[in-house]
Amino acid sequence: MTNAAHKQTHKPAPTPPAHAINPALAAALRGKFLVFDGPDGSGKSTQLRRFLDAARDARLDPCEVREPGGTEIGEKIRRALLDHLEQDMTLRCEMLLYMASRAQLVEQTIRPALDAGRLVVADRFVSSTLAYQGAAGGLPEDDIRTAARIACGDVTPDLVVVFDVDEDTAAARLNPLLDRMESKGRDYHRRVREGYLAQIDRDPRRHLRVDAGRGEDDVYEQLLAGLAKCL
Ligand code: TMP
Repeated sequence: MTNAAHKQTHKPAPTPPAHAINPALAAALRGKFLVFDGPDGSGKSTQLRRFLDAARDARLDPCEVREPGGTEIGEKIRRALLDHLEQDMTLRCEMLLYMASRAQLVEQTIRPALDAGRLVVADRFVSSTLAYQGAAGGLPEDDIRTAARIACGDVTPDLVVVFDVDEDTAAARLNPLLDRMESKGRDYHRRVREGYLAQIDRDPRRHLRVDAGRGEDDVYEQLLAGLAKCL
């Protein structure tokens, strides 16, 4: 090929879209188990969708799961848990139902995906039970961790991303038609937030706190920068 012809066919590499997952981060994410967690109204599900789009663009073939639910039986458990009619459900029943849904999800979906070397991203996991049924509800942490060992075996996240937001900001973002968990009141949700912050303090290496009170783009930038640092 002549120099001129070479010049004509040579195109500069396309600029990656803003907020794309770069190759180094993509390599670090492969085979990892990430959890996106935080109080209701933290915006974690919006961030999760955006992150998964970027992960697919980076050819990561991510496995996405949500809790409670994510399997056929898990979705039935979710309906029971979030239904307004189940007001007399005891706290232990509530905790064990979350764990039952999780046990099915781990065995049916999460473990096989990790065994296949895929990136797994979960919308909530044991960290939610520790914050909601533990810190906010009052169940002893040891009981929750024991149940989690039975439900999940040795499957634990490499990193839990906590989308941290104060109660006022979170409440303003929620749909006025609250479900059973969302309608538990202000004090309950303050304790939920404190529960997440306590988990970060106890094990900072396995947690990434993102300030979710800011705008969507800013939160997403913090997420990618934090992941690049932690993984
Ligand atoms: P979602 O709105 O993020 O789908 O979560 C459903 C609700 O269930 C939310 O209010 C948090 C609550 N929850 C717990 O209380 N304990 C848990 O273990 C999980 C996974 C969720």
